[in-house]
Amino acid sequence: MVRKPMALANWKMAMTIAESWEWVRDFRAAAGDLLNEIDVVVCPPYTALWAVIQALGDSPIQVGGQNIAPTAELSRTGEISAALLADVGCQRVMLGHWEVRRYLHDDDETVNRKVHLALEAGLSPILLVGEGRDDPPSIETALEKRLEAVLAGCTAEQVMGMAFIYEPEAAIGATKPVTPDHVAAGSGFIRKWVQDHWGANVANSIRIIYGGSVAPEYAHDLLSCPDVDGLGAGRRGRDPESFTEIVRQIVRVKSE
Ligand code: PGA
Repeated sequence: MVRKPMALANWKMAMTIAESWEWVRDFRAAAGDLLNEIDVVVCPPYTALWAVIQALGDSPIQVGGQNIAPTAELSRTGEISAALLADVGCQRVMLGHWEVRRYLHDDDETVNRKVHLALEAGLSPILLVGEGRDDPPSIETALEKRLEAVLAGCTAEQVMGMAFIYEPEAAIGATKPVTPDHVAAGSGFIRKWVQDHWGANVANSIRIIYGGSVAPEYAHDLLSCPDVDGLGAGRRGRDPESFTEIVRQIVRVKSE
């Protein structure tokens, strides 16, 4: 089965409206026809969502939220619901990012609740899973426990439409990514675990991308594992030139 590759830019708490407009203009111009070969997802801060969605018009670039509240209750000052993200025009939502776990104290059960709320609102979850600084040294043990918890209660059909970011906590905001062997071990385990639970058809459908200090100079090697369908970038995702180069390399390596 040929999976469409995927690239994700997570802007985190960066990018003003003016910077977001410039990014959309410059990235679309630079990426050109590459956008036919790959699913690109951009995750702006909430304040820039509407501006980015308007600026993208009929572009195939998809827009995702960075997080949602763990409830559909309206009395949640300062938070954002899955329904509001769907209303503004997001197709996807990132769930389980390490920074949300660390600073907003999400645990696996909370992420699982968010997965179901996102699905109910019609948003496609992009699930971030990886081993944390406090996890036991075995990647497999950490991932198994995490996947079991965050995907509890999901059907094969729901999982089939999801994307996964394999992101070891220590690689975020670091000077370089983990090694290609490490990426292969983590992403390979995720696909195998999904296969054991929902079968080969579902496992072969899901996109698994790597995230954590991704930069153009590392892209080629990180993509060498067949289980890795693309890359996600934080800092380098804010720069249209670097991000285009990452997208170009994903398309090149995955069409080889
Ligand atoms: P980084 O961020 O690329 O700046 O390391 C990655 C992430 O947190 O998704």
